[in-house]
Amino acid sequence: MVTSSAHEQDQGMPLGDLDPSRPMIVSAWGRKGSGKSVFNRRLYQSYPFDKVAIDVNGNAEPGDDAEQLTGPVPDAFPAAPARNGRRVTRNLHYRADPGSDTYVDDLDRAVGLGLYPQDRPAAVWAGEVGEFMPTAAKIGPHMRRLLMQNRHYRTTAFFDGPRPVNVSPLVLAQSDLVAVFQLPNPDDRERIAKTIGYPADRFHAECHETWGRGPHWFLLWVTAENQLYRMAPLPV
Ligand SMILES: Nc1ncnc2c1ncn2[C@@H]1O[C@H](COP(=O)(O)OP(=O)(O)OP(=O)(O)O)[C@@H](O)[C@H]1O
Ligand SMILES: [Mg+2]
Repeated sequence: MVTSSAHEQDQGMPLGDLDPSRPMIVSAWGRKGSGKSVFNRRLYQSYPFDKVAIDVNGNAEPGDDAEQLTGPVPDAFPAAPARNGRRVTRNLHYRADPGSDTYVDDLDRAVGLGLYPQDRPAAVWAGEVGEFMPTAAKIGPHMRRLLMQNRHYRTTAFFDGPRPVNVSPLVLAQSDLVAVFQLPNPDDRERIAKTIGYPADRFHAECHETWGRGPHWFLLWVTAENQLYRMAPLPV
């Protein structure tokens, strides 16, 4: 059980720069406009290998180097050819069409771009994680594989979601980093506290202390350290 209180982290991320060669799962939770996309965008843009932003609402802004992926989603990441014997990476931007009959399937196929080829590191940014699992129990095969086995596929994933209780518990349970922006419903905070093994009453108090500091403050749970950080807003 955790005994210490949240560490104050006034500038930048804890752990210095994250090691991008270590696959990880990141989830950011919070109500509309709380800052979760700003957080994941920053991690996504600094990820140096192949990556795909799966954009369901057109707000991803995956970076100036992003290339639109149009047409059917391929079975594996369409890697750029090596140049002068050196690996060239790509940043793909996939805009799924919510009006399509195959929408949920399309999203799951796009997750596969982060898995295959298996030996190549890649990142997937799944903004609005709830779109990928219409109910907590209904997860597509690629998403399930990612959540269960991301390390074997060298896959990093960034998830945004408004409410952890509405998606599969696997998302939180498998997260190496959990960013907690404003979550007004106590059930959501409770779910996070239980999953990370933090006393629920203290977690509620840490949340209120953090959000009381001002807009876009958040808590960051680092699973490997078993540590909760109180984070000042990231510079935009
Ligand atoms: N660290 C920050 N400092 C200053 N402004 C911020 C910060 N984070 C977010 N904002 C502001 O809040 C707006 C909304 O943030 P963001 O897009 O990250 O919200 P969100 O949680 O992803 O919301 P949604 O559920 O609508 O996608 C941003 O456009 C930005 O103007
Ligand atoms: Mg967002």
